Amino acid sequence: MLRRGKQPRFGGSRLAMLEEAMATPSSHYRTQAELRQQIEAWKETDRSNFDADRYYDSWRAAGYTEHNRGSQETLARRALQLCSIHTGEPPVDHTKECLLAVDLGCGSGLSTAVACRVRADTLGTIGVDLSWEMLRSPEWEEVSSSPSPLSGERLRCDLAQPLPFRAGVFDLCYSVSAVHYLAQGSATRTAEQRISALTKSLRDVLCAGSRPCALQAYLTRDSNALQLFRDVAEQDGWALCDL
Ligand SMILES: C[S@@+](CC[C@H](N)C(=O)[O-])C[C@H]1O[C@@H](n2cnc3c(N)ncnc32)[C@H](O)[C@@H]1O
Repeated sequence: MLRRGKQPRFGGSRLAMLEEAMATPSSHYRTQAELRQQIEAWKETDRSNFDADRYYDSWRAAGYTEHNRGSQETLARRALQLCSIHTGEPPVDHTKECLLAVDLGCGSGLSTAVACRVRADTLGTIGVDLSWEMLRSPEWEEVSSSPSPLSGERLRCDLAQPLPFRAGVFDLCYSVSAVHYLAQGSATRTAEQRISALTKSLRDVLCAGSRPCALQAYLTRDSNALQLFRDVAEQDGWALCDL
């Protein structure tokens, strides 16, 4: 089997067996190219039917947390810095100003835990995610034991629907590795509608004078995803800065 642009993963003898199997009269696929095309079509169907709640069972949620701790913590720290949150030792003139943050697509709490650690006394963070399994992950016990205000508060919601908060309550918003899921249309709504549900309602839930928002995402799978995000966000009144 060929990986996109890479060397075959199967050795010659296995490839020969595959070719032989495809050559049988009952085979649906005659060539590797046909088979690969089918696999790409299945992947596309899976992407457009993607539902985070169905995807993350307890096994996947545990595996995610175990394998991604370091990378997600680094990304979350950077996102908070871009939100203008000081993540090092408190500065000498630290003013004890209390802030409220929302972590969009908080998952098993890796990205939320960072916010609870960096300014435990003055930054409260609420996580939102669609996956029950991610939200009930054991990692949240550590987040909940942090002295930070509201530590471990989280709720289940779909980022492709208006956020379920009162207007003007958050001082900042960050997201780590989650909002790219909106750049894919669903069975009932286009990608534009899904992104716009977030970009519109995010404006509402942020207070006047809020910090910059930092949304880290992987927008490389579809060639137009980044442009789509830009266009929708700009239509909804955001000034964007891609990094
Ligand atoms: C790669 S994980 C990142 C989790 C966490 N931010 C971290 O850094 O570890 C992506 C998360 O996005 C969530 N997600 C995907 N689509 C979503 C949607 N439409 N609404 C809310 N959460 C969603 C998934 O359930 C998953 O927990």
